[in-house]
Amino acid sequence: MATTLDINGKAVTAQAAPDTPLLWVLRDELGLTGTKFGCGMAQCGACTVHLDGQPIRSCVTPIAAVGAGKITTIEGLGGAHPVQAAWVRHDVPQCGYCQSGQIMSAAALLAEKPKPSDEDIDSAMAGNICRCGAYQRIRAAIKDVAEGGAQ
Ligand code: FES
Ligand code: FES
Repeated sequence: MATTLDINGKAVTAQAAPDTPLLWVLRDELGLTGTKFGCGMAQCGACTVHLDGQPIRSCVTPIAAVGAGKITTIEGLGGAHPVQAAWVRHDVPQCGYCQSGQIMSAAALLAEKPKPSDEDIDSAMAGNICRCGAYQRIRAAIKDVAEGGAQ
């Protein structure tokens, strides 16, 4: 049974079974490989995308649960998003594997709270693990956006 999804502003049809995790559909069916598979158990944040602006773990979200919600992936940020620009300025990634998930969590936080407190940042980013330990640069880049550095 086909499922219609709204991905990055476009209606797309997924052929996968309704209980298939969104991450599999994004990567394997739609070729949107910017979203990464890390743990597959909602423990690492590598697979983070937005559902109606809220960060979700696509590895544990069946496409049937998405409904008419608007999905945004890292590709949907377009490359010139203020968070991506700050990531470049701060040279945030090391291996890079966790970074699309980090950026999606940061972008959702800053959309909701343009001037997040340290506690807000801790809370929003706690579920995104970085094996390379780039946490200080991630935090600096988020603060840079909050302070208007990207404008
Ligand atoms: S792959 Fe989804 S949280 Fe780790
Ligand atoms: S940059 Fe390597 S896991 Fe985060």
